[in-house]
Amino acid sequence: TDDELKEIYTFALGLSRRAGKILLDGIEKRTGEQGGWEADEQVEKMNAVDIVTQTDLDVEAFVKDEIVKRYPSHKFIGEETYSAGSSKEYLITDEPTWCVDPLDGTVNYTHLFPMFCVSIAFILNGNPVVGAIYQPILDTTYSALTGSGAWQNDNHPMKPRQALPFINSPKAPLPAKAPKGCIFSCEWGKDRRDTEGGNMWKKVNSFVNMAAEIGGRGGKGGMVHGVRCLGSATLDLAYVASGAFDIWWEGGCWEWDVAAGICILREAGGLITTANPPANWDTDPIPNVKLGSRLYLAIRPAGDSQGETGRQAQ
Ligand code: IPD
Repeated sequence: TDDELKEIYTFALGLSRRAGKILLDGIEKRTGEQGGWEADEQVEKMNAVDIVTQTDLDVEAFVKDEIVKRYPSHKFIGEETYSAGSSKEYLITDEPTWCVDPLDGTVNYTHLFPMFCVSIAFILNGNPVVGAIYQPILDTTYSALTGSGAWQNDNHPMKPRQALPFINSPKAPLPAKAPKGCIFSCEWGKDRRDTEGGNMWKKVNSFVNMAAEIGGRGGKGGMVHGVRCLGSATLDLAYVASGAFDIWWEGGCWEWDVAAGICILREAGGLITTANPPANWDTDPIPNVKLGSRLYLAIRPAGDSQGETGRQAQ
């Protein structure tokens, strides 16, 4: 019911804050009196950039415990629980499911770069209906409840801003007429296989394209104001939802990297689709994305005072 979902929203938001406190405690432990810091203990998973720290494990154990105590019949999927399992097969089912990234931006966390967060989503019938993200260093939350809206710090509503039309580039999605430039974000992800047409190849091409746009038009600057690689997919989505970023794309994310952020972006009025966009943005149907597709393109909430309306994925 609506009341149950509201309760889940409040619980998730509070839980993300409590979990974020553990992340901060972890940093405090590593920071010496002289202001230096010790690296957190790390274990490599798939490759040298796919790492897990003791803090990831502690936060996930805490969050899972709290959820199981409160909602024992719900399913739980967490990044570290999943990675530690023997089966690599995972499918989101129709069951009520919690999908958690205890520490999104693990590499940032280990380097003390502040772009990391706790990301908690509640999924019903395959759709994220509650999203709660907490970025402890900035003490900021991004959250959403389907049908009710999206908020920054639980009180500032995230709303669509001026519309931004798009065209396609053969290598990466490019904005056509970003009013005074846009900010594009793309993550390097963790796949380091260097195969033609693969994720790395697409990302390198995308950066080359964007770099050309930054300098574009005879040195006067093109339509891209800046290119960012934040190191946290869920924060990328929150920033697109808030309007700080205009576009984000990534190939290779897992469900826990994006579930909460997708809920927040959609509630803010933004668009999330597959990373293989249609040939013509203005007329072709824009495919909806399913959790688990692993390729995502997010576009900031559009539709503004001049009456332009942003398009929605179908
Ligand atoms: C990763 C981050 C990164 C993204 C990867 C994710 P983690 O999550 O969100 O920005 O590029 O695809 O797996 O490991 O820091 O939780």
